[in-house]
Amino acid sequence: MALFRSYIRPVVLLSILLGLALVAAGYGTYRQYRSIQELTYTIDVRDTELHGAHDENKRLAEAVESLTKERDTLSEALHAEKEKNESFAGQIEKITGTVGKLDKLSKTDPELLKKYSKVYFLNEHYTPQKLVLLEKAYGYDESKEFYLAREIVPFFEDMIAEAKEDDIDLWVVSAYRSFETQQGLKSAYSVTYGSGANTFSADQGYSEHQLGTTIDFTTKNLDGGLSGFDTTPAYEWLKGNAHKYGFVLSYPEDNTYYIFEPWHWRFVGTDLAKDLHEDEQYFYDLDQRTLDEYLISIFD
Ligand code: DAL
Repeated sequence: MALFRSYIRPVVLLSILLGLALVAAGYGTYRQYRSIQELTYTIDVRDTELHGAHDENKRLAEAVESLTKERDTLSEALHAEKEKNESFAGQIEKITGTVGKLDKLSKTDPELLKKYSKVYFLNEHYTPQKLVLLEKAYGYDESKEFYLAREIVPFFEDMIAEAKEDDIDLWVVSAYRSFETQQGLKSAYSVTYGSGANTFSADQGYSEHQLGTTIDFTTKNLDGGLSGFDTTPAYEWLKGNAHKYGFVLSYPEDNTYYIFEPWHWRFVGTDLAKDLHEDEQYFYDLDQRTLDEYLISIFD
């Protein structure tokens, strides 16, 4: 008994304590094992979720890429279609412009810029499309009637008005002349001057006056005459200003057609008149092809 009390009892107690410690340690290990298992399970779930999200992202990225490509293709097609339309519109505009020009040209007297002094000929039936009787005050002799082609009249009136503002008197002594009038005039001159008349008077059909675009001017102190016009302020004024209204001097000094005719001014349109003035050239210096290019804008 005493042996049990002194040796066995402590061993038993120690064994119990050790057993209890082992059980506690085993339980702890078991708890850790469970925690690890739960954690592993959670990680697996998350991993699966992440994989799912990754696949979804990939799918969305592919969808975006495919849509982007589709958009680019459509955008290119739209651009090409736009360019096609623009080019089509340009062509239409060009055609419309050409048709407009042709229409304008078809309504413009093709004779207006022809060289009538020797080369071209107007027959006895040619008259300007519409002639307008000028107001009496424009003529040197108010008992006479002077006609001009209708389209020229506003240019003529503006020019006379500006001349007046500059204290320059310009009076008409001759404007439109029919084929017959020119014929009569030339015959009369020929009777008086013989072949000398050819130096200052055109044969019928060759006079610029038959176009209704040409005017002979006189001014103060010439008694309605033409001689000496080149010494007057009126001539100086015309030289500096007539081009602004589309008028040019047909026969300057040393021209190859007639004597110097400072009084004889022909309407050729402001574009051509300004270009001639700028280049210090005369109407008959240009070839017919160049002159004809100005026909379309003669009344602009
Ligand atoms: N005096 C010019 C040349 C004409 O008769 O037309």
